[in-house]
Amino acid sequence: MRRGSIASLLGLGIVAGGIAAAVALALPWLPKPASNEAGRIDFLFWFVIVICIVVFAIVAAVLAYSILRFRADPDDDSDGPSIHGHTGLEIWWTLIPTILVTSIGIVSAIVLARDDALGKNVLRVNVTAQQFAWSFSYPASKGLTSGTLRLPRGRSVELVLTSKDVIHSFWVSEFSQKQDTVPGMTTTLHITPNRLGTFPVICTELCGLGHAVMRTEAIVMTPAAFDKWASSQAKAVTSPNAGVAGAAVFKNNQCGACHTLTAAGASATTGPDLDKLPTLAQKAGKPLPDFVRQSIADPNAYIEPGFPKNVMPQTFGKSLSTQQLDALVQYLISSSKKG
Ligand code: CUA
Repeated sequence: MRRGSIASLLGLGIVAGGIAAAVALALPWLPKPASNEAGRIDFLFWFVIVICIVVFAIVAAVLAYSILRFRADPDDDSDGPSIHGHTGLEIWWTLIPTILVTSIGIVSAIVLARDDALGKNVLRVNVTAQQFAWSFSYPASKGLTSGTLRLPRGRSVELVLTSKDVIHSFWVSEFSQKQDTVPGMTTTLHITPNRLGTFPVICTELCGLGHAVMRTEAIVMTPAAFDKWASSQAKAVTSPNAGVAGAAVFKNNQCGACHTLTAAGASATTGPDLDKLPTLAQKAGKPLPDFVRQSIADPNAYIEPGFPKNVMPQTFGKSLSTQQLDALVQYLISSSKKG
């Protein structure tokens, strides 16, 4: 091979590889990782991408060089020289892909094994999915239940996932991993959050009419802030002050994700406006306390015109204790009158 050919091949390879690398680096393909596990998955992703760019550059360079250098004349219909195998070439093009694919396999196995391993002092969180809401309970905090997933930074977390009805799928893109929740089965997911922030929790399995609104938040806090939150929430739920307890139940069960309630700073419009509860009760022809209680425990009993059926979870009647339900009803009645 002449020196000029090698220089042309090299030049074409650098151009092709440079374009591919620019596309890979310039576009934000992945969110910034917020857990150790996501960081390892990102590393694996880039490990594969770099191999792909190098292979692409070599193939593109040889292809472009062949097209430019060995192009036949338009009226040249003769056959090219016949070639019967090339043992050296065949050994290389078998050996190189074998090494590359095997190394991807080995790195993947290491990442999977390390992402699946639990650290010390594991925080267990039970995740319950239902049409169309997430709830998170903390067995270590005496059954504290929350509609948002709060996690302390730096701690190994084991999510234990179940579903009350159909298949849902838990996903926080900044944590990189997805896990299905399957009725009758328990699945797990390990997360070690390493970045403070609020990240969306998204259901990624089409699970019914309210699938698109089956969202909440994962909030990564400092360990001290997390401990403070866990103890204050546990206290608020059992507080004799119904206003505080009701507000906590409202917040923990993510009522504000779908409803407007000025007193709670909520302004969502998926469900009816809770500032207008007295008017809604009148339309439904029921006393306000009965109407509010029924609408929480059995939401399909009365559907406000213009709102869809089966979107509000039908399980609050069971998942909330009588105490929590009382506090929530009282809180909604007092808040809506002010609103
Ligand atoms: Cu739950 Cu989609």
